Amino acid sequence: MCGIVGYVGPSQAPTILMDGLKRLEYRGYDSAGIAVHDGNRINMLKAKGKLINLAEKLKENPVKGTLGIGHTRWATHGAPSDINSHPQLSGDSVIAVVHNGIIENYLDIKEELSQKGYKFVSETDTETVAHLIDFYYKSGMGFFESVFKTLERIEGAYALGILCKDYPDTLIAARKNCPLVVGKGQGENFIASDIPAILHHTRDVYFLDDNEIAVIKADSIKIYDRNQNEVQRDIYNVKWDIDAAEKGGYEHFMIKEINEQPKIIQDLVERRMPEGRDTIDMSGIKLRKENIQNLSRIYIVACGTAYHAGLIGKSLIEKLTRIPVIADVASEFRYRDPVLDEKTLLIVVSQSGETADTLEALKMAKRSGARVMAVVNAVGSSIAREADDVFYILAGPEISVASTKAFTAQVVAMELIALSMAQELGKFSTEQFNKIKEEIYSVPSSISKILQKSSVEKALAEKYSGSSNVFFIGRGLDYIVSMEGSLKLKEIAYLHSEAYAAGELKHGPIAMIDENTLVIAVLTQEELFEKTLSNIKEVKARGAKVLAVAMEGKSEFKGEVDDVIYIPRSSWMTAPILAAVPAQLFAYYVAYCLGTDIDQPRNLAKSVTVE
Ligand code: M6R
Repeated sequence: MCGIVGYVGPSQAPTILMDGLKRLEYRGYDSAGIAVHDGNRINMLKAKGKLINLAEKLKENPVKGTLGIGHTRWATHGAPSDINSHPQLSGDSVIAVVHNGIIENYLDIKEELSQKGYKFVSETDTETVAHLIDFYYKSGMGFFESVFKTLERIEGAYALGILCKDYPDTLIAARKNCPLVVGKGQGENFIASDIPAILHHTRDVYFLDDNEIAVIKADSIKIYDRNQNEVQRDIYNVKWDIDAAEKGGYEHFMIKEINEQPKIIQDLVERRMPEGRDTIDMSGIKLRKENIQNLSRIYIVACGTAYHAGLIGKSLIEKLTRIPVIADVASEFRYRDPVLDEKTLLIVVSQSGETADTLEALKMAKRSGARVMAVVNAVGSSIAREADDVFYILAGPEISVASTKAFTAQVVAMELIALSMAQELGKFSTEQFNKIKEEIYSVPSSISKILQKSSVEKALAEKYSGSSNVFFIGRGLDYIVSMEGSLKLKEIAYLHSEAYAAGELKHGPIAMIDENTLVIAVLTQEELFEKTLSNIKEVKARGAKVLAVAMEGKSEFKGEVDDVIYIPRSSWMTAPILAAVPAQLFAYYVAYCLGTDIDQPRNLAKSVTVE
């Protein structure tokens, strides 16, 4: 999605902005631009395509100045083009704006301003903001008041960085439903939509809340609420290192993040289930036995990969607590009038903590009196701040658009939440708990074993990368892993792939199976093994190639399949985490063979902050 960076201080802004934008590239974008105040006027450069195009323009037409804003745009209103890129300027370059999000009522405002003589050159909603601020400014208001007045008028979601020609020392930032942080440096300050953009300059950040405005100069940061009252905000010190947001010798962020999984899960498990403790440390969660006993239902709501982690959570919580759980994608949940009341718990799952649909589902549930628990990676994100209870997975920054380490950490988190709830309800003994704890503790070393043998997935990817049609099949938790494997293959290898509950094949999709189809069958759930095996025989009989993912020691079915990827033996609960890793590796290596843009797949953005 779009990225914002801004700077005010003694250094040359263009260098800092270009470097910050480079670090935001992973979010996905199709054009970029910067606006720099040179003390007298605002100079702007914009270019369609990758940052290199903007860098070339900057080389040809160097701009200088110590105050500036930069943007990477992922087109929503109007095609990717130089004109539609941000910053957007008011007609005579008095106001410059970069914007993430969507202004929903921009057409009304555009109409109103057009009647006042304002000329629009782009198709963007953002240009309306620049002109509206300009309008109030020229009506006699100060810069700050004009921005404030404009924010009262606009509806929708925004993170904004704003410059005014007559204020060569001031950067204004504002947010509503879109992430934005203000970085505090020594005699210099920053804004960014994402921490990695500024982390090599400062670790001290302020998270802006919705409807807040920050007025930022080189030596001061003032934050105001919607009533123009100054608010005091604690500084958050970012704990993770910039190395975490760099490739560190790997060719892609995705493969780096796949390889980080053992360590992340080990840290998570040791944090929440330290040695010697026979309960789970649920710091951040205030949900207690009496709250859980009082629940009539639980919803788990998320998007994409996080939804798949939620589906696993649904199975586990239902199985262990016997409380009914409904899992739903956030974009559907929001609009289907779900039953929500004080006896409902909504669990939202989100890596970024900024996904628009998930955030709105959370707000809707809260308005209905439901309690909301968030399983989140990004500390201080909107979802984390809005939720009643937060379970941080602390997987570090996930840069690759394809989510991998966040997924497995989310699944572990869901397991720990399910276990903790079941324990609160007295559903199992300390002995049973310790057995499960031991199984979860073995996950990092089992993943390491899978990673050590990644040449298996690489060879299979080379063998099957020419497939034009891939089906993933499985039953129960294996079906959910299939959904995740299929999503990975689609999003980074652009291979047509579908996930089907193996038992559903006969109800339609088996008509698609022929000798050009690759079927990837996941069979880690012991009691469902024979059932899925009979589905494998059905697709095999229709000419499909079959690649199975199964536990070590399961060799009796080898005659039925073309290839097998083995994962270490594990329990029904932990097997989905392990089975996800070969699926990630397979997708990665297929994409590698096909030469796609693995970390920034086409048409996709890292966090989806629009509906
Ligand atoms: O940041 P979130 O976890 O809320 O993001 C949800 C989805 O957009 C995300 O998981 C998406 O499906 C990934 N690109 C999948 O790899």
